[in-house]
Amino acid sequence: MNEKLDLIPLPVSVKTHDSVFRSPVLPVIEGGSVFQNEIDLFKEQLCLYTDQSGAGSRTENSKKITLVMDSSLAAEAYTLEIRPQGLILKAASPAGAYHGLQSLRELILSSGRDDGIVLPCAEIADYPRFPWRGFMLDCSRYFYSTEFIKKIIDALSLHHINVFHWHLTDDQGWRLPVQKYPLLTEIGSKRLEYRYRDMYSGGFYSREDIRDIAAYAASRHVEIVPEVDLPGHTSSVLAAYPGLGCTGGPYRVEDRFGICEDVLCAGNDGIFDLADAVFDTLAELFPSPWVHIGGDEVLFNRWDACPKCRKRLEETGLTHSRELQSWITVKLARMLSERGKTAIGWDEILEDSEQYRLPEETAVMSWRGRAGGLAASRLGHRVVMSPNTEGCYFDYRNYGHHEEIGRDLVSTAAQCYNMDPAGPEMTDSEASLILGGQANLWSEVIYAGKIAEYMIFPRICALAEALWTPRDSKNFEDFKVRLPVHQKRLERLGLLQYRGPLE
Ligand code: ACM
Ligand code: ZN
Repeated sequence: MNEKLDLIPLPVSVKTHDSVFRSPVLPVIEGGSVFQNEIDLFKEQLCLYTDQSGAGSRTENSKKITLVMDSSLAAEAYTLEIRPQGLILKAASPAGAYHGLQSLRELILSSGRDDGIVLPCAEIADYPRFPWRGFMLDCSRYFYSTEFIKKIIDALSLHHINVFHWHLTDDQGWRLPVQKYPLLTEIGSKRLEYRYRDMYSGGFYSREDIRDIAAYAASRHVEIVPEVDLPGHTSSVLAAYPGLGCTGGPYRVEDRFGICEDVLCAGNDGIFDLADAVFDTLAELFPSPWVHIGGDEVLFNRWDACPKCRKRLEETGLTHSRELQSWITVKLARMLSERGKTAIGWDEILEDSEQYRLPEETAVMSWRGRAGGLAASRLGHRVVMSPNTEGCYFDYRNYGHHEEIGRDLVSTAAQCYNMDPAGPEMTDSEASLILGGQANLWSEVIYAGKIAEYMIFPRICALAEALWTPRDSKNFEDFKVRLPVHQKRLERLGLLQYRGPLE
């Protein structure tokens, strides 16, 4: 059989041996109670292989998978020994055990169904290069179901992706229920589709949906970072509460794409009452220490022309209305910090922030290339790299051909693979502030889960390796050899995948 394990992302170290491990069914799994959740979930994920007769659990001499706590390992690290007589997985934490079990799940998914489980004997030692290995799904431009989101989170976790950045609000729809502001969802979650007659689309997640998704992600060691995009990309807010805009409206939940002129009025204190209620809701529903506050693509012409915004300029001692964005960002970041949360925003939050400096703990997500991230790290901010110029925008085509799905721009798997969040251009101190990287799937032209899958896979496999595997072990040619085996695993999970050129 194939000596290679064909794991994606490639582990830090793999030694294979000639012998094999064989078992007709998923073996009994033993481990301390600290790993019980991971064990139960692993069995659920591989239920195809469980012994329906229960014989495996009754046979005393049956082969075993043994999980062992080894506190000498780093938090997300694991080691996996595959021997003919059994498997031993060591980890210092449930997260490390989960990652090890996901590598094992990959091996089992590609080991053939008819002869049960056949694995090459090997010793794997593994840990991540970056702590933030993310993926963002835009659930505003298209409203994805709870079931679909869970399917994606599960597949992400197979690749050791550990952050699901949930883009919950935008011009085209507000998806988060906020009890004190019921119109956000009553009005802001639905948009009239102007290309059709009398057709509304949209929806929102109930508190139960959110709790359900949050628990599902947490069990897979995926952290959900919710995003509420402020103060731009807020047509859905303005449609619900027109008093929060500079002109008073009328506004509508947008069905057009692009950047809208109407944003929250910087001169209206009511926008902070709204943020208060929204942040309370997020703090209640999401355990993550991070809240993404958006901050991208704010146009300032409304603020220029608005008497309330001009008054705010005077009060704050600022000269240009565009500087009000950092004044707002600083206030939002403080409000979050009062709730024990840390703000992260798109790289625009750093612009014109000389007067109102962002708190150092505020992190920056660099999307317009990597310059914003580099500038942020020079000021001492932590950074997540998600450059649209280097393959991280999954709404762009997989390949530059007009028959391909996506916006008329290209993010190849190769670009994504070669994206290095902490590139050699950085000093050690800048690189030490790089949390990691992520891919973003904006959904303007991705109007179904199946299309989303085609845009995510296999580019996320390339990104997972860029964020997990040591820089010196990365090799795109080798990745391309492993990928066909891996794509069979993804097929078995029912994921639609792009199959064309990768570079
Ligand atoms: C963005 O792509 N507007 C963050
Ligand atoms: Zn205003």
